[in-house]
Amino acid sequence: MSNPFREDLVSRAQPKACTVVIFGATGDLTHRKLVPALYNLLVDGELPTGVKIVGFARREKSDEEYRDGLEEINREVSRSGHEDALWKQFRECISYHQSEFQDGDGYKRLGERLDAIDRERGGQGNRLFYLASAPEFFDDILEQMRDAGLNEHKGECWSRVIVEKPFGTDLPSAQHLNTIVNATFEEKDTYRIDHYLGKETAQNIMVLRFANAIFEPIWNSRYIESVEITCAEHLGMEGGRGGYYDKSGALRDMVQNHLLQLLSLVAMEPPTDLSADGVRDEKVKVFRSLRQWDTPELVAANVVRGQYVAGYVNGQEVIGYREEDRVDPESMTEAYVAVRVMVDTWRWSGVPFYVRMGKRLPKKATEISIHFKEVPGVLFGALPGGLPGGNVLVMRIQPDEGISLRITSKLPGTSLRMEPVKMDFHYASSFGKSSPEAYERLLLDAMAGDATLFARRDEVEEAWRFVDHIERAWHQSEKASPMTEYAAGSWGPREADELLAAHGHAWRRL
Ligand code: BG6
Repeated sequence: MSNPFREDLVSRAQPKACTVVIFGATGDLTHRKLVPALYNLLVDGELPTGVKIVGFARREKSDEEYRDGLEEINREVSRSGHEDALWKQFRECISYHQSEFQDGDGYKRLGERLDAIDRERGGQGNRLFYLASAPEFFDDILEQMRDAGLNEHKGECWSRVIVEKPFGTDLPSAQHLNTIVNATFEEKDTYRIDHYLGKETAQNIMVLRFANAIFEPIWNSRYIESVEITCAEHLGMEGGRGGYYDKSGALRDMVQNHLLQLLSLVAMEPPTDLSADGVRDEKVKVFRSLRQWDTPELVAANVVRGQYVAGYVNGQEVIGYREEDRVDPESMTEAYVAVRVMVDTWRWSGVPFYVRMGKRLPKKATEISIHFKEVPGVLFGALPGGLPGGNVLVMRIQPDEGISLRITSKLPGTSLRMEPVKMDFHYASSFGKSSPEAYERLLLDAMAGDATLFARRDEVEEAWRFVDHIERAWHQSEKASPMTEYAAGSWGPREADELLAAHGHAWRRL
């Protein structure tokens, strides 16, 4: 049925054939996420005909060696398995380009190679550059691309860039990177990826809120007591991750981007339309409304940081954070953080958003829960057992994607006793097919020129402003939430429970 309001929004823009150039082609992200995502798009018949992939990296490798390495990992990680016949077709689209990131000649040769591919494909010169290298090379790559003219549109053909996280390490470095990116590519051709926005369940937040008449009228401080966003991970610093992580920490690694992005989708006002800027205009207003914890006292009162000590995860004994490979034994980097976030808008006045992220927690799970205010106790409050608590709407982002609603029900029997029960919806059983990986959706969107699920410059910078105040307070004063400890395999430090208890709340048990 056509949309009577906006004809242009009825169909999604079509992804166009292009050459995807991946800088940092020998890294984990390329092997484990990007190439399997492109392969799975082909499996699902979604990859536009004529897409070619060029891996750009420093190591010497032939095309064949490169393809073999990708195949090995694809067999292991591909969402829909690995089919030899299809892979054979796919691997022919992949080539390898060896060059140093600073070598101008390497980019000139890349340009010639891309021209040759365009001629073969029959004139479709669209190019999608993906910065998946270590971030310290982003400046060089962008500058060299500009010098080689790779950023230029040719006639109808476009040239776009996807920038991986981390997008800077603080506000000044993010602004610097934004300046370099925007000196090379226009904002409309810049796609700052936040893979949480590509997750099916994150996209469903807007649908749940704005396509269901029952939720939006109560989505405000009159009915909502608090909101919780939890991202738990059971992993620690496997595979040498400690080197990167110890310089970053939970706040910068996940709160600045993924968790604040989820928060903005929960808290934003209805956009005027579904265009990329329509949605992002509303999200950025949320970022601008975050109350700033900008003194050591405010940080101490609203933020808890912690490190895990040795413990057990899934029955396995694991070491503490400071003992991990490539982590400083005296590290002051947090592997856990909990923040009480206040969104100072009319809608959310007085409603805390409790956001927490931790490594080495009991399991991997990301969820958002909306805790509704309790009903007045006049009818049932005085009964034995009382009311069993308010309604809770839970959006499970991963795993076991779905939505549940906790309601209060009468226990069967002659006496009037109440218990909470759950209405539950599971994506897997309701739709009977697995959700695409976030990177699949996002790569396709970039090929279609749809930036809705990518972070805009102002969103990224506002999120850094919030995070920088906390980081600064931590560095200035030990009093600003001292480093706490928790046993690996537990649900985090006691201080994080106290943070909520101080406001009459408690973390939901996942
Ligand atoms: C990355 C972080 O951005 O997201 C990692 O750098 C984290 O530390 C990862 O583990 C989590 O992603 P996902 O999709 O597995 O939840």
